[in-house]
Amino acid sequence: MGVKIFEKEKQFHLFNSKISYLIGECRDGEIGQIYFGKRINENQIILGYQTLAGRPYCNPAEYDESYTKELACLEYPAFGNGDMRGSAYEIRQANGSRVTNLVYKSHVVYEGKKPIPGLPASYVNTDSEATTLEIRCVDEVAKVEVTLYYTIFEDYSIITRHVSFKNVGNEEVKLTKALSCCIDLPDHEYDLMQFEGAWGRERYPHVRSIEKGIISIESMRGHSSANFNPFVIMKRRNTDEFQGEAIGIHLVYSGNFIAKAEVDNFDKLRFTMGINPNWFVWPLDKGEVFDTPEVIISYTKEGLNDLSQNIHKFMNNNLVRSPYKNKPRPILLNNWEATEMNFDEGKIINIAKKGKEAGIELFVLDDGWFGKRNDDRAGLGDWFANTDKLPDGITGLAKKINDLGMDFGLWIEPEMVNPDSDLYRAHPDWVLAVPDRRRTLGRHQMVLDFSKPEVVDNVYYHLYDIISTANISYIKWDMNRSITECFSQGVAPEYQGMVYHKYILGVYSLYERLIKDFPHILFESCASGGGRFDAGMLYYAPQAWCSDDTDGHERVKIQYGTSYGYPLVSMGSHVSASPNGQTGRVMAINDRANIAYFGTFGYELDLNEVSEEDFEQVKNQVVFMKKYRGLFQYGTLYRLQSPFEKNYASWMVVSEDKKQAIVVMYKGLNTQNTEVEYIKLQGLEPDTVYTINDNEKMYGDFLMERGLGTLGWNEPWYRSGKDFTSRMFILNAE
Ligand code: GLA
Repeated sequence: MGVKIFEKEKQFHLFNSKISYLIGECRDGEIGQIYFGKRINENQIILGYQTLAGRPYCNPAEYDESYTKELACLEYPAFGNGDMRGSAYEIRQANGSRVTNLVYKSHVVYEGKKPIPGLPASYVNTDSEATTLEIRCVDEVAKVEVTLYYTIFEDYSIITRHVSFKNVGNEEVKLTKALSCCIDLPDHEYDLMQFEGAWGRERYPHVRSIEKGIISIESMRGHSSANFNPFVIMKRRNTDEFQGEAIGIHLVYSGNFIAKAEVDNFDKLRFTMGINPNWFVWPLDKGEVFDTPEVIISYTKEGLNDLSQNIHKFMNNNLVRSPYKNKPRPILLNNWEATEMNFDEGKIINIAKKGKEAGIELFVLDDGWFGKRNDDRAGLGDWFANTDKLPDGITGLAKKINDLGMDFGLWIEPEMVNPDSDLYRAHPDWVLAVPDRRRTLGRHQMVLDFSKPEVVDNVYYHLYDIISTANISYIKWDMNRSITECFSQGVAPEYQGMVYHKYILGVYSLYERLIKDFPHILFESCASGGGRFDAGMLYYAPQAWCSDDTDGHERVKIQYGTSYGYPLVSMGSHVSASPNGQTGRVMAINDRANIAYFGTFGYELDLNEVSEEDFEQVKNQVVFMKKYRGLFQYGTLYRLQSPFEKNYASWMVVSEDKKQAIVVMYKGLNTQNTEVEYIKLQGLEPDTVYTINDNEKMYGDFLMERGLGTLGWNEPWYRSGKDFTSRMFILNAE
C-alpha cells in the first residue's frame, strides 16, 4: 500500500492490494485523472498524458491544438477555462471574474491522515493504516491555493478525498462552489443507484441509466434528508449483488448536497459531489482557509454485497467514534409509540419495570418531558424538566430507572424551538427567518439559527445542566423539520450565503462539545426518523433511527435499502405494537423481531399491554439477542433476495470465522401452492458441515451452490394463512 510517485512525469499512483488510483499533471499544469479501478501494476506511467485533441477545440496553449481540456479527464476542474462540462469549484474574484486555472505547485506524502477542522471525517487508528497524498495547486491570478487531499487505506478498497482552499492574496475572494470531488471516467456505461424516499419510507434504492446529459440528486433542506441520501453507487449495467464493478460515493456531510453525473458528447462520464452550490457563498479573506467535506470513494469488481461489506467495515473501524465502537449495543425500550407525550412518572416507571422484567438494558424517555410540552405545539427549546409530569426531574427519574437495574436515556431536539416557548419569547431573533416575511412552520416549530455561536452556546449550557445532573447513558438527538427561509437575522447581506453551511458546522460543534464533556454517552441521531442518516452524523452518533415507520413489513425494505451504504449496527430498529401505529398492519411478535434483530434492536411499545404469550416471546427474544447480537450487528451481511423485486426477501450475516451464520427469509403476502425456491447462501466455508436450527446438517458448498429450500419452512408459510411471516435459520459449524 502507498503512493508511488513519478517525479519527472508528476504522476501519482495510490494503490493497495485491491485498487489503483492514478493521477498526474496535465500539459497545462492541472491535475488529471488517469485510472481508477482494480489494482494495476504500480509502475505504469502514461507518457504524453492528455495529448488528446481529435480536431481543434479550445486550447489552453496558444497555437497548440493538440491538447484540449474538453476531452481531458480532470481531478478538480475549473469554470470557464476551456472545459465545457460542470466545474468542481468556482471563485468569484474582486474584479467579478470567475475564471481560474489551477496549476500544480508541490506535493507531500505521509503515513496516516489528518482530521478536517470542524468537520466529520474518517480517521486512522494507527498511522500505518493509510497513506495520504496532498497536492498543492495555485491560481496565480486569484491568488488562491487549492490543496487536493487523497488518502488510501491498506485494508479497504477505499480512497477518501477532500479539498482545501486558502486565500494567499490580499483581496477577498468568494467561493461560490466548492465540491468535494470530481471523478472523470473514460466511458459512461454505468447506472446510477440512488437511495430515495420520504418520511416513513427512507432509502429505497432506485436505479437510473447514466446517458448523455445530466442526472443529479440533491438536498436543499438544510439536512441530508429522507428524500435523497448523500450516498450513491455508480455500477456497471450488469452488476448485481454477487458480481460486477461498482463505485460507491458517500459525502461525509449532513447538510445541503448535490451529486451529479454528466455524460458529454464524447461518452465520458463526470461525477461530482459536495455541498450544494445553490445559495452557497463563502467569503475568503486574506489568509483564510475553507475545507470541503470529505468523500469516501469505495470500489469493487465483485458486486454490491462486496461493496457494502467493505463500506460497513470501514465505517465501523475508521468513521465511528464512540465507546460503543465495535461493541454490542444495549437493548433499549423507548416510550414514544407507547405514550407519545401523554405520560407521568408513574406511567414511565411502570413501562420501564416491565422492560426490566423482560431483560431490557436501557430505558429511553422520548419527547414530552420538558417545558410546557404536552403536544407538539409548545415547549421546544425550554430544556428544563416538566415537574408536573416528573416531580423529581430528570435527575430523579434517571435514579429511579437506575434503581430498577436499567440504564437511562433521554430524547432531545436541540436545533428547534416552538413559537410558544420561553426561549422564543426571549430571543425571537434566534430563529432562521426573513424579516417581514411569513415564517414557514414545520411540525409547529422553527429552526434555531445554529450559524450563530451564541445560540449554540445557549443550548449547550441548558443541555449541560440536564446531562451533568443526571445519570444519562444514551441520548437520542432528533431534528424534526427541514430549513426554510434560511436567513440569519442581523447578519450582513454578504454573509447570508454562509448560513446553511455554518448551521451544520454549529450542529457538529455542539455534538463535539457534548461528546467531549460526556464521553460515555451513546448518541443516536434522528430526524423525523431517517432524515439525517448520513456518514457525517455517524462520526458523532454511531447509530441512527432508521425510520418512524416501525412496521416490520415496511422495515424489511427500509433496512435492506439502508444496508447498501451503512452498517447494520448503525440502524436503529425496534419492535413496535401490532396493529402497527403507522400502517395498521398486524404481524406476529416474532416476525417483527426477526427484522428488528438486524440492527441495534429494542422495543417501542408498552410491554404491559401485550398478551402473556407475547411477553414470554419478548423475554426469549431478549435472551436470543443478547446471545447473538455480536453476529447481528457486526457479522458480514449478504443481501440474497431483494424485497423490491419479489414478495420474498432474504439476507444473512456470517461471523468473521465463518463458524456461525444467521439467515432470515421474509414473505409479504401469503400465497398458495407457490414455487419452491432454493436460496443460495453466501460466505460460508465450503467444506464445513453446518447444523441448521439444531436439526438438519448441510455442507457449506451445498448451501451455497444448491441453496436452502423454501419448502422446509412451508408450515407457517401457506398453512398458517398469515401474511407477513418470516423464518430464521441459525447455522453452526460442526
Ligand atoms: C420524531 C422521531 C420519533 C419521536 C418523535 C418525538 O418523529 O423520529 O422517534 O422521537 O419525533 O416527537
